[in-house]
Amino acid sequence: MTFDRSIKIAPSILSADFADFGREIEAVEAEGADWIHVDVMDGHFVPNLTFGPPLVKAIRKHIKTVMDVHLMIAPVDPYIDAFVDAGADILTAHLEAGPHTHRTLQAIRGAGIKAGLALNPGTPVEAAAPLLDLCDLVCVMTVNPGFGGQSFIETQVDQVRRLRAMIGDRPIHIEIDGGVDPTTAPKVVAAGADVLVAGSAVFRGGSVANPAPYGENIRAIRQASSA
Ligand code: DX5
Ligand code: ZN
Repeated sequence: MTFDRSIKIAPSILSADFADFGREIEAVEAEGADWIHVDVMDGHFVPNLTFGPPLVKAIRKHIKTVMDVHLMIAPVDPYIDAFVDAGADILTAHLEAGPHTHRTLQAIRGAGIKAGLALNPGTPVEAAAPLLDLCDLVCVMTVNPGFGGQSFIETQVDQVRRLRAMIGDRPIHIEIDGGVDPTTAPKVVAAGADVLVAGSAVFRGGSVANPAPYGENIRAIRQASSA
């Protein structure tokens, strides 16, 4: 993975058909996805459950782009090796998931992959300052994590702007997760984001049998972001 700040659309498979992840991923990549965003939830850190390392490993072979794994779990450290073995390109942990996020980020990078830090809407981005040199990506949550299809929290746009200023020239992606659509995407891109996670706004209206809407939805977000 080479670093650049071009806009990347990362469909979240949380909004895909859970019985058909392989073909859903292939369809959404063929329709223009830049990365694939994989939401892991534990029913403890967030009030919802999705899947664990065996499923992530099984879908890896269907991903030709970048597998971006968002861990909404606590604790994180006992599972890092399993998600690295599953083939994550980027492994993102929440600042709020435990008291030793610095150690977690070191461990992810030490395993030879990219490390991401996610921040809940209630966390000031300034809390990430001491950790930025251990991060390849900071994920600013624009919903409270746990579910797809929630409303974008507008006050996070100012947090993205402040984070972008803090990062300066460092090669750190700013990812936005939650409520991204053609209306909200331009606001966060103007504030400095380059990776846009979108679940419902990408998968709505389409299916494996009818994937063209995936492409239309991705292009709509991309065009709105570059306007
Ligand atoms: C929320 C997840 C998101 C979610 C986004 O907890 O981390 O990745 O799938 O879904 P939308 O785009 O529908 O808000
Ligand atoms: Zn996510």
